[in-house]
Parts: sequence; C-alpha cells; structure tokens
Amino acid sequence: MRNQIAAANWKMNLTYQQAEKLLDEILKAQIELSTHQQVIFAVPAPYLTMAKSEVGRDKNFFIAAQNCHHKKSGAFTGEISAEMLQSLGIKYCVIGHSERREYFQETHAMLADKMDQCLENFITPIFCCGEPLSIRESGTQNEYVAQQLKDSLFHLSAAQVQSIIIAYEPIWAIGTGKTATTEQAQEIHAFLRSVISSQYGQDTADTIPILYGGSVKAGNAAELFACPDVDGGLVGGASLVAQDFITIIKALK
Ligand code: 13P
Repeated sequence: MRNQIAAANWKMNLTYQQAEKLLDEILKAQIELSTHQQVIFAVPAPYLTMAKSEVGRDKNFFIAAQNCHHKKSGAFTGEISAEMLQSLGIKYCVIGHSERREYFQETHAMLADKMDQCLENFITPIFCCGEPLSIRESGTQNEYVAQQLKDSLFHLSAAQVQSIIIAYEPIWAIGTGKTATTEQAQEIHAFLRSVISSQYGQDTADTIPILYGGSVKAGNAAELFACPDVDGGLVGGASLVAQDFITIIKALK
C-alpha cells in the first residue's frame, strides 16, 4: 500500500511555547500507526530543531520545513537553503504552497529549482498544486493542475518523482471552510495520477502519495481519506488543535 500521510501545516502560527505544548499533546496520545502511515509536522523554521527533538526517533513522525530557497547558497538575506535543512536532519519540505505562489511570487521555474535543491539534499518535497475558484468555475482545473506538474516536475527522472509527495490543495477550499466533495477530490486526484502515469508510467504514478488539502477537519477526514486516490491530507487550521489533528491522524487508511 502507498504511504498514507497526515501532514500538519502550521503556517505562521503558534509561539514556541504553544508549539511545544501542541506537539506534546499529540505525541502523548500514543496513536497506534502502521508502517505505511506517517505524520508530518510542517513547522515554522525557528522551531525545526525543537520539533525534531520532540518527535525523537519515532518511526512514524517526521518534521518538515514549510519552504526553502531555490538557490544552493549565497547572498539571500533571511532565506533558508535545502542544504541547511539537511544539516539539521530535516527530511521533508513543503514546496509551492499556494500562499507562497501568490504572496511571494513563486514561479513554476523557481519551484522546479526548489524540487532539485530538495532532492539533491535528500529531502522529500511535498509539492503543492491546486486551482483558484475562477479556474474551477470555468471547468479548466485539470488543464491548470496538469500544467503545474509539467512545469515544475517533468524535468525530474522517474526515480526522483517516485520519492516525492504531491498535495492537491484547491485554493477555494483553503481556510474557507469549503471542502471539495469526495467526488471532486477523488476525480482530480485520479487525474493527477494519470498525468504522472502518462509521463513516467503507471508503476511510478502508483507509488506517489497524493494528499488532499483544503479545510480538512476532524469531521470530514475519514470520508476524504477513504477515496482510493486520496492518500491523506495536508491540514492547516485543524492541525493547530491537538484533539482535531489526533482525530485526523486516526482517520488514515
Ligand atoms: P486549511 O486546512 O486551513 O484550509 O489549510 C489548508 C492548507 O493550506 C494546508 O497547507
């Protein structure tokens, strides 16, 4: 079975003390997980080391950065490189979140370079894609997300693509309380897998976890995760509440 993943994206939330408490509460729940089930916390950069030490050697729990720079190193004040993340022992990094694309003008080409930086540093990228409301309303969401994959992923080898995670996050469902229906989620996840398959073959497409993100909550996670092509979630708001995120983790297939 493909890995099933509950990923928390804390975004720019929580003080250090609140972050420690939240992690502590979730870890104390001692949720029983199978080897194919993983929990990833994408935490603010200043908390990476603390969070990594909190999860310790637990084989199901991992820490992710929320972003890295697209260049290897240099005069980029305030930025964080993939190599720096690797030197901290961080194994995952969110790439191309819609908030980064929109507010920080991240282009397809920059994201392609970020993918390279992650993979060169043995970091698994969680590559985000997803359409805005206007595209969904015009019915061209498939073309839109396919282009996102083509422009930022298709320079990679099949072996490299096999090691990534994709997160489909419809922008109209992020932080809005609106969720894609299970039919909408399954349909576009299957489509994304077919785009990967047409470029890299079915075997490669079948190995890649595709997470759903956009108002995943304790009350809808099980239904969404039950879809055959939905391999878990990338969760914003609900990942900030211990009991809600515990319920979401328990909803993994
Ligand atoms: P919400 O779960 O708050 O809608 O955020 C989704 C998201 O952007 C996760 O990356």
